Amino acid sequence: MLKKWVIGNWKMHGSLADNKALIDGIRAELPALDARVGMVVCPVFPYIPQLKQITAGSGIGVGAQDISEFAKGAYTGEVAGPMLKDVGVEYVIVGHSERRTFHGEHNEQIARKAKAVIETGLIPVVCIGESLEERQANQTEAVLTAQLDALFAVVGTDNANIILAYEPRWAIGTGVAATPDMIQAVHSFVRAYLTKRSAAVAGLPILYGGSMKGSNAASIVTLPNVDGGLIGSAALNAAEFVAIYKALVASVA
Ligand code: 13P
Repeated sequence: MLKKWVIGNWKMHGSLADNKALIDGIRAELPALDARVGMVVCPVFPYIPQLKQITAGSGIGVGAQDISEFAKGAYTGEVAGPMLKDVGVEYVIVGHSERRTFHGEHNEQIARKAKAVIETGLIPVVCIGESLEERQANQTEAVLTAQLDALFAVVGTDNANIILAYEPRWAIGTGVAATPDMIQAVHSFVRAYLTKRSAAVAGLPILYGGSMKGSNAASIVTLPNVDGGLIGSAALNAAEFVAIYKALVASVA
């Protein structure tokens, strides 16, 4: 698996016309991807077939924003892993803080969703991160440890095809990214945790997410153990998204 990634989480944005304009814009500014840095976009479910079509031949991967923990059945409104695979999805975000906040998802359920992704043969992008209250109470490491413990209790520690994304909840959509010092401290902590767990997971990519944009990308992605970004707002703007991608490419050059 690649080590460096730029993943766009489009959240509940987009339309057929906007998606096409965005991908056209990205492809115009970036005629070829760098083989060392992956680019993935995660639209809402209905647009996945469109995204597969308009990214064909570009090297841009397509991901989903959620998955059911079940493979099929009477689960109204849910989407199963085999269905995502059927339409060409390769990556699935699980455990995003907006799922935790608005849909009550908890660590164990998120771990089961990650397992569903893996069992389907896809790559989970597992989000972890603390709230502002938890950070202020000095609970950041304890919260991350509980999230990671829950994940590996369900998916085991043999699987190297997992992407982690550290998204401090207070930095998401606020325009205020965590400082390089904070990011550095957490990513080193997560790397040490992974190294202790197993050789297979020791090298998992750890992305940062939370108000990353073209102007701050270089200061973040050049930090040790930061292997890319999970991008919200800036992923909806071709120039911003490409600027972040180029910062990643420069960081591995
Ligand atoms: P923003 O980049 O808009 O802060 O969102 C980050 C995020 O939640 C990506 O999953």
